[in-house]
Parts: sequence; C-alpha cells; structure tokens
Amino acid sequence: MALVPYVENSLPILSKFHNASANFRFCNHDINIAQDWKKLGVAAVVWDAAVVLSMYLELGSVELKGKSVLELGAGTGLVGIVAALLGANVTITDREPALDSLSTNVKTNLPADMLGSASVSELTWGEDLQRYPAGGFHLILGADIVYLENTFAALLETLKYLCSDTTIVLLSCKIRYERDSAFLDMLKQSFAVEEVYYDPEKDIHIFKASKLPQNTEL
Ligand SMILES: C[S@@+](CC[C@H](N)C(=O)[O-])C[C@H]1O[C@@H](n2cnc3c(N)ncnc32)[C@H](O)[C@@H]1O
Repeated sequence: MALVPYVENSLPILSKFHNASANFRFCNHDINIAQDWKKLGVAAVVWDAAVVLSMYLELGSVELKGKSVLELGAGTGLVGIVAALLGANVTITDREPALDSLSTNVKTNLPADMLGSASVSELTWGEDLQRYPAGGFHLILGADIVYLENTFAALLETLKYLCSDTTIVLLSCKIRYERDSAFLDMLKQSFAVEEVYYDPEKDIHIFKASKLPQNTEL
C-alpha cells in the first residue's frame, strides 16, 4: 500500500524520485539508497531535507559519537545512516509499510562492524510510545516530517515523550505552506526553537529545539 497516491504525470522537478536509487557520499562512504516511489510514495525517496540534514551532521555541528539518537519518519534512512557513520547509536523509525526497504537501505550502506549501532523499528507518531524510553535520547532527528496537518498533534506528543530536558531535536524542514509554520508555533509552546541553518539553494531550514523547563509553580 502506497503511503500517498502515486501520480503518473508528476512535475519534471519530481523526476529524480522515479530513479531506482539515489547516490551520495558522506563520511568518506559511498551511500546508495534504493527508491521506490510507486510502491511507497513519500517514504521511499530521498527528500532534500534529508540531504541537507546529513550535510549539517557531517559538518560536526552536534556531537554524535556514542550518543543515543532516534530518527522520526526516516523514509529511506539516509539521515540515520549518516548519524550511525558518525558514531551514534541510532534507532531509525517510520510507519510499518516503510520498514522493509528502510532496513534494506540500512543493511546495504553500513559496514558490517557498524550494523550493531543502527536498528530499524516502527514508530507511528502518537502510537504505542511506551515501546520507547521516555526522555531516553540525546538527539531526535527528523527530515521533512512537518507536512501533514492531521499528524501535527501526534508528532508534538511524540517529541514531548521522547525528549528529556537535555535532548536536542533537529528538524530539517521545507516550509511549503502556512500550516507548516503553524506546527513550529505549536512546538514553541513546549520547546525553545531556533533556526540553526538555512540552505538557500534547496530552501531547507534546520530548526533546533529543546524542551522548555516545566513550570512547577502552583
Ligand atoms: C516527506 S517523507 C520524508 C522521509 C525522509 N525523512 C526524507 O527526508 O527523505 C515523510 C516521512 O514521514 C513518515 N510519516 C508520515 N506520517 C507519519 C506518522 N504518522 N508516523 C510516523 N511516520 C510518518 C512517512 O512515512 C515518510 O517516511
């Protein structure tokens, strides 16, 4: 089942999504990501937000070595793979239909001795969150996951659950519609949010967020 309906007459700008694979070089590794737009839609192609976030991570802007990282809405897994190559222990998550091809991409692109530092598992925002440790991650990553208004409340709930006061969230976003900014406004009610990077060519913003201290006054 496709996660979005497949549109045959798509715009030329989307033609790269119809390639069977996308190739990158990060952390001195050639990365070959299998894509299958017809089968899985948005979850099975590499979005610019993932490329920009991977570049940002490779720049060393956040410490990853030995850190516990969870990626939300990983799609093809590029960001999680790069985080693992940079030394993090990564839990790479998405909805169930995306997991097979996600696992294949992870297995294909990580050297055998690094496979233990990346796991793939289901995380549908807002559902069965107790399967994951509350506040148990140093870093939460998300590339192009702010785009479906009907998921915003569940996505926010998920971020609040996964984050401790010291967890850093990096969201790499294309702001396509006003509603995408509305999510950032929702996020700002519980998180301190700042823009830490902007790629003008790809029009991708990276936002860093950390949970605001809870007001314990009565
Ligand atoms: C635009 S794609 C981005 C994929 C990948 N992060 C990238 O940038 O290449 C959005 C991703 O969010 C996932 N997603 C959408 N709704 C979700 C939900 N309710 N729970 C978990 N993941 C979801 C989709 O399956 C998809 O992989």
